[in-house]
Amino acid sequence: MPDVLCTLPLPDAFVARVSTVATLRVLGRVTTASELCAELSSHPADVLCPQLADSITDRVLDAGMPTLRGVCVYAVGFNNVDVAAATQRRIAVGNTPGVLTEATADLTMGLLLAATRRIVEGDATMRAGDFTGWAPDYMLGLDLQGSLLGIVGFGRIGQAVARRARAFGMRIGAYGGAGVRVPDDLANAVRIFESLDELLAESDIVSLHTPLTERTHHLIDEAALRRMKPTAVLVNSSRGAVVDEVALVRALREGWIGACALDVYEDEPRLAPGLACCRNAVLAPHLGSATVRTREAMAELTADNALAVLAGDLPPHCVNPEIGVRAR
Ligand code: GLV
Ligand code: GLV
Repeated sequence: MPDVLCTLPLPDAFVARVSTVATLRVLGRVTTASELCAELSSHPADVLCPQLADSITDRVLDAGMPTLRGVCVYAVGFNNVDVAAATQRRIAVGNTPGVLTEATADLTMGLLLAATRRIVEGDATMRAGDFTGWAPDYMLGLDLQGSLLGIVGFGRIGQAVARRARAFGMRIGAYGGAGVRVPDDLANAVRIFESLDELLAESDIVSLHTPLTERTHHLIDEAALRRMKPTAVLVNSSRGAVVDEVALVRALREGWIGACALDVYEDEPRLAPGLACCRNAVLAPHLGSATVRTREAMAELTADNALAVLAGDLPPHCVNPEIGVRAR
């Protein structure tokens, strides 16, 4: 039987399907690239199912050769995989798009509400016994109705956030770079910005939904943060490194922006120095896709991808289909 290696255990839906055709091994931890190299060299695998915190570098892929035919990530984001190196080696890379769109958009709205209405700060105040009673000017926030939500990255998740924001009466702007497409149901609800700078300057809330690539690394840097309104709220449920977190801490401390709500971090699970002390930061532990149903659906797609590779086909959700169906 071929071998499938998972770094962390995946839900039963994955195990039940994959273990009928392959020997499944689970390391039980997120690895460093060196650990994973050692593991793949000593126990060859046909398919590797890593987590988003596992770095799948060219060295890891080489350690997997010649048996490794597929890397099936349990995530929609695949920035942790050197896809160019995989393509060179004709290793298929699969991901789990679509099934986590709604859950991630829901969490984004939760973060947005928590930051604009100061819910987390309020919770801390209550628990500390510091609430002394209702007052006209106490803990005021930002209205969603009529505010401009600037969506950066207008793919599936950005669009799902736009649909929710429309129900809250927000105005919606989007920046997606060249080739951005507005679906028919949002055609009259979204203003497309040609310039990111303009979107940042005009938005009351900025929400990030772009994949992490070389081009989007630190897209929100010091200059971008300084362009935002001093009352603006930055929401990030995409990837931490889209934001320069050190610059963000300064922005929060020095009032270049009003607040932030983050689900993802540059050096996950660690926080940039000072971030945890910012009362105007809402910090969630990467919960975007964290619902029972969504994780099951991700497990099914990961199984679909792995089974296809084992059968000699491309994964149905393949990010490098240019490798073609392998002779290997
Ligand atoms: C989670 O962050 C994912 O990319 O699926
Ligand atoms: C990106 O993968 C998205 O779903 O928006």
